[in-house]
Amino acid sequence: MTRRFAASDAIENYVWAHSREGNVAARLREETAKLPQAGMQIGPDQAAFLALLVRAIGARRCIEIGTFTGMSALAVASALPADGKLVCCDISEEWTAIARRYWSEAGVAARIDLRIAPALDTLRDLATSQRGQIDFAFIDADKARYGDYYEACLDLLRPGGVIALDNMLWSGKVADAHVHDADTDAIRALNAKIHADARVDASLLTLGDGVMLVRKR
Ligand SMILES: C[S@@+](CC[C@H](N)C(=O)[O-])C[C@H]1O[C@@H](n2cnc3c(N)ncnc32)[C@H](O)[C@@H]1O
Repeated sequence: MTRRFAASDAIENYVWAHSREGNVAARLREETAKLPQAGMQIGPDQAAFLALLVRAIGARRCIEIGTFTGMSALAVASALPADGKLVCCDISEEWTAIARRYWSEAGVAARIDLRIAPALDTLRDLATSQRGQIDFAFIDADKARYGDYYEACLDLLRPGGVIALDNMLWSGKVADAHVHDADTDAIRALNAKIHADARVDASLLTLGDGVMLVRKR
């Protein structure tokens, strides 16, 4: 989701201007910008970060929870080897129809297995065949279930595998002790849990709306 912690608009513009974005991704950004929900899309800096991460760990099997119009999936799938696979979880046929068009244009559609169902159902399915085998997971869907997504993805991950959780600063609300709504409290609780979680290495980044990066030990 595009919410920023850059020190100024000038720095944000500079960062975006130095974040590589291909032609297909740029057109997807343009089309998504016309939607009222456009703010849910990750920025080009985050897309470049996800792609670099996927390449750096040599990921082949990935999961995404929350696909929307397909930007993060495009970044991840483009960074995979030709025989790599990304399972995308979303509940919207409408938004993911846009995603499918751009994935085809980018030539990565064959690497993506889009499952339209509540993500926890898909994760439960995957657990029967892929437990301990996933290299990388990106979590970017409904915040109240983030704790469940984290546990399910950790279970699916191989040792050394990585999870990136988006929106972990939630526009700064997690740091405001006066704010107590369901989403803010859920994210706050998960940040605290991961901070103390001996099963993982973790780093909370001020990238986009806050990205918690976790590596399974
Ligand atoms: C913030 S958007 C994802 C943005 C996307 N990662 C991108 O880069 O453009 C969140 C998505 O989560 C989906 N979603 C919400 N609840 C869900 C659920 N229970 N299971 C699966 N997807 C869900 C929404 O339909 C929406 O497309």
